[in-house]
Amino acid sequence: THAALADRLGRPLRDLRISVIDACNFRCPYCMPADKVDEHHGTDAAARLSFDEIERAARGFVRAGVSKLRLTGGEPLLRRNLPDLVARLSSLPGVEDLALTTNGSLLARQARALRAAGLHRLTISLDSLDPARFAAMSGGRGRLDQVLRGIEAAEDAGFRRIKFNVVIRRGTNEDDALAIAGRFRGTSHVVRFIEFMDVGTRNDWRRDEVVPSAELHARLSARWPLVPLDANYRGEVAERHAWADGEGEVGFISSVSTPFCGDCNRARLSAEGRLYTCLFASSGHDMRPWLQGDAQALDERIAAIWSRRADRYSEQRGARARDGARPIEMYLIGG
Ligand code: GTP
Ligand code: 5AD
Ligand code: SF4
Ligand code: SF4
Repeated sequence: THAALADRLGRPLRDLRISVIDACNFRCPYCMPADKVDEHHGTDAAARLSFDEIERAARGFVRAGVSKLRLTGGEPLLRRNLPDLVARLSSLPGVEDLALTTNGSLLARQARALRAAGLHRLTISLDSLDPARFAAMSGGRGRLDQVLRGIEAAEDAGFRRIKFNVVIRRGTNEDDALAIAGRFRGTSHVVRFIEFMDVGTRNDWRRDEVVPSAELHARLSARWPLVPLDANYRGEVAERHAWADGEGEVGFISSVSTPFCGDCNRARLSAEGRLYTCLFASSGHDMRPWLQGDAQALDERIAAIWSRRADRYSEQRGARARDGARPIEMYLIGG
């Protein structure tokens, strides 16, 4: 039956992003600026979904058509016993892809256990290779050398194709793009440059701080020519390019200059169990009462929510002011 589930714009549900914790040990100004978020934010363990509840959610979403899962945070590696959850989810029938997005700071200790538990893929945020700038972009909390050790540990553990998320802000880390690209050319890893987005309510977003991907592409390809690649799958967020000299792949995620809502098949579950049908949604749907064991009730709940979905915020940006309600914060749904 799940082939029939589509939202009001005809989009299927394929991808569930699960935030396992809303705490983070970084305070990246584009996401969770230290002066606007409580120091102890997200540390209330009792408010989080249990692994049992998360597994029931995952099973329900798989029945609804999902085949891709991604664990996010806050910082997901702060969640205790995360490899146990990874083991449960990686062995679920119907889960073809299980990935994790992390800031990398705690990876050195955990990479091996995550791999052993069956995690398929890793995405690591990395905004600069300059120690001082890296520290600044994590709100003074992150240490570049720690993250670099985490990356090495991940490679040693067998993650062969790591994706690196690089948020570029004009006037802050534009110059890092070339260095990061250069560092991973010739490896099997994939760097993706992300346009600074107007997510949440706290990052003081300004359009003049967005470096459009077209501009970045021009700068990079002036140094090392690029050729476009086809998408790996329908609705892929990043536009893929290959270095013309065969040295690997990069991507551009351009939700400001080139919105991609048309094929958006992603849902997001917050650590507290609310379902968001868009990164820019202001109200989620409480799922917790439906995660207590009645599978049929859960299926009906998911179908009811998804079939009413009409979100396409990035395509409407500019044309339409937000509906007045406060949009969800990025650190609650993990990007
Ligand atoms: P794979 O293709 O499975 O590797 O995943 P991905 O490209 O979706 O990677 P990831 O989940 O790391 O997403 C990268 C970044 O793209 C996120 O951190 C967000 O900044 C942005 N992004 C992802 N999905 C959306 C979306 O649905 N809408 C918008 N506007 N931005 C998104
Ligand atoms: N704009 C673009 N990307 C963002 N992320 C967080 N905040 C923003 C923003 N304002 C992304 C980062 C990180 C992921 C978890 O979310 O790339 O890798
Ligand atoms: Fe934490 Fe990631 Fe947000 Fe940075 S972008 S504050 S690492 S959740
Ligand atoms: Fe999907 Fe919303 Fe992002 Fe558009 S803005 S791609 S609908 S999450």
